[in-house]
Amino acid sequence: MNLNADDGRAELFESQIVLPDAHIAERRGRLIGFQERFSRLGRAMAILLDADSLADWAARFHGAGLPLVAAMTDRYPLIVLHGDVGTGKTVFAEAAADELCRATRRDGMLLKLSTRVRGVGQVGQMSHLINQAFAAVESEAGRKRAAVLLIDEADSLAASPEQIHSHHEDKVAVNTLIQKIDDVRRLGGRVLVLLCTNRLAALDPALLRRAALLERFDRPGDLERAAVLEADTKGLGVSTGALAKTVALTGPEANEGLGFTFSDLRTRLLPEAVLRAYPDRPLADDDLVETARAMTPSPSLVTEDIVN
Ligand SMILES: Nc1ncnc2c1ncn2[C@@H]1O[C@H](COP(=O)(O)OP(=O)(O)OP(=O)(O)O)[C@@H](O)[C@H]1O
Ligand SMILES: [Mg+2]
Repeated sequence: MNLNADDGRAELFESQIVLPDAHIAERRGRLIGFQERFSRLGRAMAILLDADSLADWAARFHGAGLPLVAAMTDRYPLIVLHGDVGTGKTVFAEAAADELCRATRRDGMLLKLSTRVRGVGQVGQMSHLINQAFAAVESEAGRKRAAVLLIDEADSLAASPEQIHSHHEDKVAVNTLIQKIDDVRRLGGRVLVLLCTNRLAALDPALLRRAALLERFDRPGDLERAAVLEADTKGLGVSTGALAKTVALTGPEANEGLGFTFSDLRTRLLPEAVLRAYPDRPLADDDLVETARAMTPSPSLVTEDIVN
């Protein structure tokens, strides 16, 4: 469900989605490798979003009042998802937030910070909007309800001072963001901030230092490309040979070292192949293979990242 409450929040958030959400769950089912990644990260995320469950675990197996619990609860509820364009950061963030609510049997709210929060450059405006956004997030979070704030394409909002150069306004905004993340820590696991960026190296180090988890996303390898192509062409009668050729043509070896991204495959290659056949004839092997041959992958946005 997408709430469009007209209480000023529409300006702050691109969307406000009550979790669990059937639409997100359906999309999650079509993500290659989601379960593997989530089974690696899910528990760490759950502890960040539910500090009580960690204390319960400790009390059950080790006794109450452990320093370890305090130390772990002291972490910032910030997770940074970084990697090249179209590698699945945004879809993972949404799917993971939803899955987390299901796994912990909590209701939740996914709030996607709008890019409009970047404001129009008036002094103090961006900071003001960040403050308002966090106030809304905090009011969403309750004992039984989790709030997940997604700061997508955070590059401009959270860039380090060296990257920003002389934009005083932007520096103030980064500091406000850091301050707010410090503040939500005190809520003891009812708010989780997910921050997505293409350029980890450009993030403010003070912000990066606060991340409890850094998760890297890469362009899909051969097996993942094969899995996406196979799943998305199911029922079309594409031969295994054509699929194998397409996998090879979309790999780094055939493309000067840079393979196709997930979105290159799903939102460019497949639609274009379909357009060769539609509306007069069925899709043929060659439509897929020749489209792959003619198309080039999205250029990389990842520069030399300091952390790998
Ligand atoms: N694991 C995956 N399996 C299948 N398809 C995927 C996967 N990850 C992403 N995609 C597809 O790629 C598209 C782009 O994904 P997404 O928007 O999450 O990328 P992103 O990393 O956030 O990119 P950007 O940096 O440009 O914001 C999605 O529409 C989705 O269909
Ligand atoms: Mg994205």
